[in-house]
Amino acid sequence: VSDPRPVGVFDSGIGGLTVLAAIRNALPGENYLYLGDTARLPYGTKSSETVTRYALRAARFLVAQDIKLLVVACNTASAAALPVLEAALLPLPVIGVVIPGAAQAARVSRGAVGVIGTESTIASSTYTRAVLNRRPELRVVTQACPLFVPLAEEGWFDHPVTRDVARIYLAPLLEASVDTVILGCTHYPLLKGAIAQEMGPETNLVDSAEAVAAEVAAYLGKEGRRREAALGGLRVYITDTTERFRRIAQTIIPSGISALELVDLPG
Ligand code: DGL
Repeated sequence: VSDPRPVGVFDSGIGGLTVLAAIRNALPGENYLYLGDTARLPYGTKSSETVTRYALRAARFLVAQDIKLLVVACNTASAAALPVLEAALLPLPVIGVVIPGAAQAARVSRGAVGVIGTESTIASSTYTRAVLNRRPELRVVTQACPLFVPLAEEGWFDHPVTRDVARIYLAPLLEASVDTVILGCTHYPLLKGAIAQEMGPETNLVDSAEAVAAEVAAYLGKEGRRREAALGGLRVYITDTTERFRRIAQTIIPSGISALELVDLPG
């Protein structure tokens, strides 16, 4: 069997394209629908109640397009709303980025895990709980890094300012001698170089985009629901004007967006 329906991927905006790119790398034959809720971005500074409300609305838009699986690419939405989304969308399978990233960190850590993410993700403690559920003896140290999002969107991947900001944010993790850092935000894979430089070569960086891609591939393979084709399409929906999105999307995913459409989400 094979299931030709698209995979739905949802994020607060642009950053989730890093997750989409990783999934597409693993599964190029699938068709993808991506929704970036750019009208309500950022999610990372908002309360979990607000993020949950936004996430439900965005998810329902994709579900109405007959997707076979929903990937919540946004760490903030995964951390705040995954159980609510799963319950509301049953029987549709929903995969968030937190569990795959936490599971991988728990597999590789030698004793202490650092978690970096938006303010909302860190305040939720969802990553900490997910790591400790798997390995209660680990130490988990968390740090919100809100400035990383605009720095990544500015394209300052390896800029002196980014290196300064990384040095300040990551100091507590170095101090705590973490051996593994979870990149718990869609934008952070873009700053992997600067983060790696600061943390040093001995530190494992867990890219939650890659971890979720492996999980999606494993799930569709196990269920016999992959679309067996050479190359699928990518249709992108956003909720606010396209120009800024187009410019930044270009740096994350240089080719292959088949269509970009402005949509309004029903309340
Ligand atoms: N997508 C968000 C995340 O992964 C980052 C951007 C935002 O705050 O909306 O946490």
